[in-house]
Amino acid sequence: MSEQLAILGGPQACPTGTVKPWPPIDDIDRELVMASLNQTTHTYGPNSTAFEQEFAAWNGNSHCITTNSGTAALHMCVVACECGPGDEVIVPAYSWSSSVTCVLHHNAIPVFVDIDWDTINIDVDKIEAAITPRTKAIIVVQMGGYAANMDAFMDISARTGVRILEDYSHSHASTWKGRKVGSIGHVGAASIMSGKPLATGEGGMMNTDDQDIYERAVMFGHGDHHKFVENPEYKRFSPLPWGGYKYRMHQMTSAMARVQLRHYDEYRAPGVKAMERFFSQVCAVPGVGCNYALNDPDVTVGASYWQMLILGDEIIGRVPNAVIARAIQAEGASASPGGYFCHHLHPFWNECDVYGDGKPTRIAFSGRDVRQGVGDCPVAESIVTRLIHVPRMIQYDEAYIDQLAAAYLKVLTNLDQLEGMSSDDVLERSTTLG
Ligand SMILES: Cc1ncc(COP(=O)(O)O)c(C=O)c1O
Repeated sequence: MSEQLAILGGPQACPTGTVKPWPPIDDIDRELVMASLNQTTHTYGPNSTAFEQEFAAWNGNSHCITTNSGTAALHMCVVACECGPGDEVIVPAYSWSSSVTCVLHHNAIPVFVDIDWDTINIDVDKIEAAITPRTKAIIVVQMGGYAANMDAFMDISARTGVRILEDYSHSHASTWKGRKVGSIGHVGAASIMSGKPLATGEGGMMNTDDQDIYERAVMFGHGDHHKFVENPEYKRFSPLPWGGYKYRMHQMTSAMARVQLRHYDEYRAPGVKAMERFFSQVCAVPGVGCNYALNDPDVTVGASYWQMLILGDEIIGRVPNAVIARAIQAEGASASPGGYFCHHLHPFWNECDVYGDGKPTRIAFSGRDVRQGVGDCPVAESIVTRLIHVPRMIQYDEAYIDQLAAAYLKVLTNLDQLEGMSSDDVLERSTTLG
C-alpha cells in the first residue's frame, strides 16, 4: 500500500527514538581511570602492559603494542614489514585515508586495487594482477565489520611472499572462519578512537605473532618497549627509537581500554542482534544489499560500526542515494549517503607534492608511474553513489528497530514518489519540514 512519504508531508514512520551513547561508560571505567590518575607515573606503565597482554590473549596473538592512534599503529606495521622507498603496497581504492597514507611515510608506493560489491572490502580476485616484483605488502581493511576472505589473502601471500597487513579498525571481534580479524595476517593494526567498536577516545594497537615484526615495530616508534627486544642486532641501538617517533599510549587511555575490553563482548552483543533484525527486514527489498554478513557462514560481524546499505541499479537508476537518504531522515531515522573516498581519482594522490620532491608524492620514489584513472577501479568509482550509512545499532529494542526498518522500507518501497527529485529539492523540503 502506498503511504505518503514524510518528506512530502506524510506521517513519520519513525518518531525519534533514543540511541544510547557509545561506548557505554560505567563506574569501573571511572574507578580505573581515577586509580591511574592517582599513580605516581602517567607514562607507559602497568595499565598499558596489562592491556597489551589482555588484548593479545583476547584477539589470539602473542604480541600487542599499544599506540596513541590507529594511524600510528599502521605506520608501525609498514615499517615492521620493511616497506621502503619504491616498494609497492597494495591498498583498497576505497577506505579511510590513514589506511593508505601510512605507506607514504617511508616513500613506499600505494597501488590501489578495486573493492568488492558485496563487502566493500578490497577485491581479492583483483590482487594478483596488481602484484609486481616490487610488491611488499597488501593492506586489507576489514570494512564495516565484514571480514575479508582471509584464506584467499593468505594463500596469495604463501605463493608470492607478499605480507598481509590487516587494518581492523572497524571490526574488533569480527571473525573469519572463527578467527578474530587482525590476528590472521602477518600483522594487524586498529584504531580504538571514540566511536570505533572498541572505543577509548583516542588510541590504537598493533598485534602480531611474529617476533621480528614485533621487535622492529617496537624499535621504530614506541619509546619504551626496547626493554622487550631480544635481537642483539636491534638491541644495540636501544634506547634510541629508530624513527624518532613516540607512539605509546597514555596510562589513562589504557585504563579505560582495559575496562572496555573486559565488557566488550557484553556491550557489543545487543547491537549485533539489532543489525540482524534490521537488515533482514530491509534487505528483503529487491535491489537492496548490505555489508552486514547476513548469510555468510564464514563471517561473524563483531559490532555495529560503519554498516551500509548497498543499492543496486534497480534502485539508484530511479532515485539517487542522496535523495533516498534525505527522505529516510524525514521519516525520523538516521541515514547518510556515501562514506569514504575513492582514492585513485582523488587529486591528493595524483598531484600533491607533500615533501617538495618535484613530483607528486605518490610516485616520487617509484620507478614507474602507478597513477590510475577513471575506469581503473569501477566498483570504488561507483560505490559512493550506492551507499547509505545506516544508524548505529547499540541497544536491542525490538520496537525501535522495527520503526527504523519501517522508515527505510517506507522510502525504499515508495520510490515513485521521489522520482525526478534532485538532492537540492529534497534538501530544501527537509529544511522546510524542520
Ligand atoms: C579503517 C581505518 N583505519 C585507520 C584509522 C585511523 O585511526 P586513528 O583515527 O585512531 O588514527 C581509522 C579511523 O578513523 C579507520 O577508520
